[in-house]
Amino acid sequence: MQLTSEEREMLAGSKGPGCRLAMEVLVEMGESYQAPCLIPVESAHIVVSNHKSACDAGLEILEKFVSLGSKAAIPTTVDPGGIDLEWRGAYKIPGELLEKQRRIRDAFRALDFIPCWTCIPYLFGQSPRVGDHLGWTESSAVVYVNSILGANTNRETAGVDVAISITGRTPLHGLHLKKKRKGELLIDVRFPYPTREQMVILGYFAGLNTAAKIPVLNGIEKIARLEDCIGLGAASAAAGGVALYHIAGITPEAGDIKTAFGENPIPPPIVFGPRELKDTKGKMCTAQPGSLGAVMVGCPHYTIAEIRDLARLLAGQKIDRNVRFWIFTHKANILLAERAGYKSTIEEAGAEFVADTCMVVTYADLCGFSRIMTDSGKCAYYAPTEIASETAFGSIEECVEAAVRGEWAGVS
Ligand code: F3S
Repeated sequence: MQLTSEEREMLAGSKGPGCRLAMEVLVEMGESYQAPCLIPVESAHIVVSNHKSACDAGLEILEKFVSLGSKAAIPTTVDPGGIDLEWRGAYKIPGELLEKQRRIRDAFRALDFIPCWTCIPYLFGQSPRVGDHLGWTESSAVVYVNSILGANTNRETAGVDVAISITGRTPLHGLHLKKKRKGELLIDVRFPYPTREQMVILGYFAGLNTAAKIPVLNGIEKIARLEDCIGLGAASAAAGGVALYHIAGITPEAGDIKTAFGENPIPPPIVFGPRELKDTKGKMCTAQPGSLGAVMVGCPHYTIAEIRDLARLLAGQKIDRNVRFWIFTHKANILLAERAGYKSTIEEAGAEFVADTCMVVTYADLCGFSRIMTDSGKCAYYAPTEIASETAFGSIEECVEAAVRGEWAGVS
């Protein structure tokens, strides 16, 4: 691999032992990808942020870099933690796990990472531009910044993201190369003005059908708002590892279908119509109809616009007393919701805000919910294993209706 003179000096230790170790990691990784060189990146986003998925190995990596005196070389944001360390009461976290989350927080401080604790860092901490090269993890954020903001990032791996932050470099391969960003699979979407729920189900469908190819979604005339793309991308990334999709006229580098495919042949389309919608929604529900333990929304973290919509739906309603209704979001959104009056409306209905963590990476499995419901495709994918509960998926309107009734009636 070709290194610049500055990079060779970093590898020799000119910027300290932490930077040297990080360079060793990246060079080894780059060689395994047969990358010709490293490239500078504008920012990093880190997923070694909660002990549940990072485990002791992730904590060890962080503390190793801290012990070597490392600091982030570029703006670096972090994914949700395992628990909001300032939040109490929803469920009891074993002291040992709390302590590990505190050590992750302390390591982040020492490394000079921005503690936004969110999977929507493009709204809280960083604003990637078209053409920027980034070193991000967090599958839902990666697919959003690639497909909607026009930035370039691979879905980096946990631990390597720390090395990227410390050096400000990543190997040149994959989605950093224009020719690797072209469409490979065509989905003919039969919903020209898709609803939010249809977008999420489409994302899940795309994930199940792409087989690691880059999908081009054709037939969408108008997307109601960008939050719908956040939900679609997260579902596609969870169900099938999608890191980039194209929607003509929405994805910055895909003005039309031909441009989206570039030199690649345009294959026969896979249809996504009413039948596929219904089938896919069925696959997203592992639950049998019956009483609900919890409704969990905010995967990816809810934006303030989504909180506003939810406040309107919950106004004057009462959630069944046996159902927990959790809204996961960034802490600043809770403050905005309070100022706007949404928070009191939502809390009066019986729902609770939770910040700095999420339903998948926190210890919701300790609550013993036998059945939960969500409006998120990504949550629907992970909840059966991570929350250890039967999972129902539906629109936010269906989630509210079920929470008030106290039970899920089955796939509509
Ligand atoms: Fe975000 Fe957690 Fe979902 S990190 S995308 S809310 S699984």
